[in-house]
Amino acid sequence: MQHRIFSGVQPTGNIHIGNYLGAFRNWARLQDDYDTIYCIVDLHAMTVDYDPVALEKARVDTAKILLALGVDPDRSLLYTQSQVPGHAELAWILGTMTPMGVLGRMTQFKEKTAAGVASNLGLYSYPVLMAADILLYRADLVPVGDDQRQHIEVTRDLAERFNNRFGDVFPIPEAYVPETSARVMSLTDPTAKMSKSDPQMKSRISLLDEPDMIRKRIRSAVTDSDPQVRYDTAAKPGISNLLEIMSACTGEPIESLVDEYASGGYGTFKDAVADVVIAEIAPVRERFEALENGDVREVLRVGGVRANEMAGTYQSEVLRAVGVGAF
Ligand code: TYM
Repeated sequence: MQHRIFSGVQPTGNIHIGNYLGAFRNWARLQDDYDTIYCIVDLHAMTVDYDPVALEKARVDTAKILLALGVDPDRSLLYTQSQVPGHAELAWILGTMTPMGVLGRMTQFKEKTAAGVASNLGLYSYPVLMAADILLYRADLVPVGDDQRQHIEVTRDLAERFNNRFGDVFPIPEAYVPETSARVMSLTDPTAKMSKSDPQMKSRISLLDEPDMIRKRIRSAVTDSDPQVRYDTAAKPGISNLLEIMSACTGEPIESLVDEYASGGYGTFKDAVADVVIAEIAPVRERFEALENGDVREVLRVGGVRANEMAGTYQSEVLRAVGVGAF
């Protein structure tokens, strides 16, 4: 059976190289071999304080970035979550089988609320909506970065609970996480992951940064005072992060990069990292700028119609299974 892939991204601007190396590059690569569905999860983006005008723009910009980095609407379904009511409907059904304790243990919920984000029911039940996203299309493979593993575990757990109670409806999905760069770290604090919501712009490389800016950010990345380039995430988290980024961009193993740059000093190494990052992502910005908003909106409109048709068929099976099928 051909695998069905589903993955999502929050339209919150600032898409960075962590998103790209952790997830989106795989989104583009997997299109040839799998049936791929990619969703801009605008309902998820409403779980934190947001501006509706900015959200509307971010949906289109996010789609534009995905198209620019190689998501191809002829091979993948690309749409926004709000276009398909089945996501919210299935989330409600799965919510009735989600123990509160499971949600209270979620790292992202705990981190966000600890950081002062106002908690609300949507933020708390975020993983249930995410499970619904994946299960709605019966996806069995989910390309994501390391930070989403816990949410995929909840998805698997909910699929099993549902199947045990109502019959074999859902495949049990698996996370598809890259070997290197599954967790790209912040450039200003290499013990924290690179994040779209970090108020410090210097902490990340945006996919739309100009080459000069990329170089500046990498040169000023926080490292340590021992000048030897070596992979040691505990003692040298900053250098290890740059090694991972470089390895992910070039495909060269970390050990051979260490051999090459061990004794040349941090300045030379950082410049080499900047060169490969620029070569990897500069074309994305160029293609982004060439895309027209109107065309992108049309891609989303068409994608939404197709996704809705597909989801509707699957959702009737769920509704029948739980006892609320159509009359
Ligand atoms: P989001 O929008 O935060 O991130 C999009 C993707 O980027 C990955 N990622 C990273 N990978 C490596 N290093 C980093 N520093 C880094 N930061 C982010 C994320 O793991 C993700 O794959 N909850 C999801 C969106 C979502 C979803 C889904 C994903 C909603 N429903 C269903 C998969 C399936 C999120 O907030 O991703």
